[in-house]
Amino acid sequence: MRAWELDKFGLDNLTLVEREKPTIGPTEILVQLQAASINPRDQQIVSGHFSQDVNFPLIPLSDGAGTVVEVGNQVSRVAIGDRVTPLFFPNWMDGDAHSGERRISGGLETQGVLRDFGVYSEDAVVAIAEHLSFAEAACLPCAGLTAWTSLVPIANITSANSVLIQGTGGVAIAALQFAKALGATVIILSSSDKKLERAKRLGADHCINYVDVPNWGEKVFQLAGQGVDLVLEIGGTGTMENSLAAIRNGGHIAIIGYVAGADMGVSVFPLIIKCAHLHGIATGNRENYAAMMNFIEAHGIQPEIGKRYAFNDANKALADLEHGTHFGKLVIDYQL
Ligand SMILES: NC(=O)c1ccc[n+]([C@@H]2O[C@H](COP(=O)([O-])OP(=O)(O)OC[C@H]3O[C@@H](n4cnc5c(N)ncnc54)[C@H](OP(=O)(O)O)[C@@H]3O)[C@@H](O)[C@H]2O)c1
Repeated sequence: MRAWELDKFGLDNLTLVEREKPTIGPTEILVQLQAASINPRDQQIVSGHFSQDVNFPLIPLSDGAGTVVEVGNQVSRVAIGDRVTPLFFPNWMDGDAHSGERRISGGLETQGVLRDFGVYSEDAVVAIAEHLSFAEAACLPCAGLTAWTSLVPIANITSANSVLIQGTGGVAIAALQFAKALGATVIILSSSDKKLERAKRLGADHCINYVDVPNWGEKVFQLAGQGVDLVLEIGGTGTMENSLAAIRNGGHIAIIGYVAGADMGVSVFPLIIKCAHLHGIATGNRENYAAMMNFIEAHGIQPEIGKRYAFNDANKALADLEHGTHFGKLVIDYQL
């Protein structure tokens, strides 16, 4: 089978190799992978900026989708022919992660999806909504679930609520699609007017260019009446102060990303004055992932793919993510 392997940190050390097709144990399944998507974390893992604790050679990328082609003799949850996506955290089934549930993640502590075949525990996959292609389903295990966890299990967003979404990348556009299907009012930020036009076509109610309006927090507060119910905090450095200005009293901030830096450096006073709820988000568990997949099916949602690449061009996709020109997800389609 084809696989991309990283021998040491650096994109130039990611090479396309031929490997034996893996074999399965009694409770495992073999999945023929058909698509993968890229998250910033994958790019950071490859460059060595995410963790130094990597067992080389590593097959990168956490998020993929494919068909079950073999099952072990004790497997009962999954059948040959099922279309599935592996979980981002293969051991986190439900509830909070109190012990080792988040110790293993795809494409870091265990081999990733950038290969033709992967072995998974029968418990570590979820069936794909029927209307989704493999490329669309591959957008969901990390970015999709992170958006869903923030909106529904954390903030219980409904049509009575308003949400601020930062940026137009993978998490942001999944959040826009879910929030609109939930009936919420959405305010979205981008550095690009062209991307904002695209977000508007997907249903965004209000668009703000965060370069033209650096103090966007106050504007968001006014657009939402008395502040938004939820902010999906993607920026990190420089955005938290605005996010606190944007929320209503008692509002929620889902702390997701650090695209502008990891140091938030804010005063405690706006937190206290607003009685703000801050929630660290770590993707999510299988129970919520399955609920998200049901919601996607019920609403016919199709994840937004910014660009598709052939399997042999996976390294180009990783390089492109860093350039930040994309909208939605970058996907590697193994059939191209
Ligand atoms: N905690 C978790 O479980 C979790 C899960 C997934 C991702 N993440 C993290 O969340 C972040 C986003 O992930 P992603 O997959 O959506 O990445 P992505 O597809 O690369 O998108 C990044 C987005 O960030 C926006 N952005 C950059 N600087 C900004 C700023 N100063 N203010 C507001 N927006 C800004 C950009 O918007 P424009 O191009 O429109 O300007 C871009 O669309 C990353 O840091 C990632 O590591 C965390």
